[in-house]
Amino acid sequence: MQKILVWDWPVRLGHWLMVGGFALAWLTSESETFRLVHAISGGVVVAVALFRIPWGFIGSRYARFDDFVRGPNAVIDYLRSLLRLQPAHQTGHNPAGGWAIMLLLLLAIATGVVGWAMYNELGGEWLEDLHEGLAVAMLTVVIVHVAGVVSGSLMHGENLIRAMATGQKQGSPEAAIPSARPLAALILIAWVAAASWWLAS
Ligand code: HEM
Repeated sequence: MQKILVWDWPVRLGHWLMVGGFALAWLTSESETFRLVHAISGGVVVAVALFRIPWGFIGSRYARFDDFVRGPNAVIDYLRSLLRLQPAHQTGHNPAGGWAIMLLLLLAIATGVVGWAMYNELGGEWLEDLHEGLAVAMLTVVIVHVAGVVSGSLMHGENLIRAMATGQKQGSPEAAIPSARPLAALILIAWVAAASWWLAS
């Protein structure tokens, strides 16, 4: 086992853009003054999530859904290994975390689409309630996600948060991805800038 490249640039950049966008959208959610900031930061979250869907099919090995979206047996086995405090080491996402990721992406898109409809004055108060309910559901999953990441880091003795920044985790050399896909990250930046601006305009 040695340090190998696991997370490509679009996964890492998309992740931290989503974290920043969500935090800013949450902080500005009650403010009239920062309405535009709220719409743009919410737009960043939804744009990253929309990019992540095709990237789950064409991205590098550990970014692909078929690498981490697993059936119920794999999830139960992993959760059992967690309860024994001996979780099986994963080079990519673990099977339980994989479902939290799918839920986060779906909630990000749903919250963003409903927010956009509200912003364009479609629908009534029920749309506002739905937007808030979806955002609260997303925050709940984020809290579970962060708790999973922190406990996983402690149990594996590997800093998963740093790995989401550097892209590197412990693994065997042949499990490494061959490229960090920097060009796709540039496309992500251009897409997020254009889509979030359009959503907020
Ligand atoms: C708004 C809040 C957050 C959202 C929406 C979010 C969403 C996600 C998503 C979608 C992924 C999958 C990445 C991918 O494959 O593209 C992920 C993974 C990850 N996130 Fe977050 N995240 C949030 C907050 C955080 C925070 C605050 C931390 C650090 C404390 C964190 C640490 C990680 C780590 C370490 C992984 C990789 C997990 C693994 O090793 O399998 N996330 N997150």
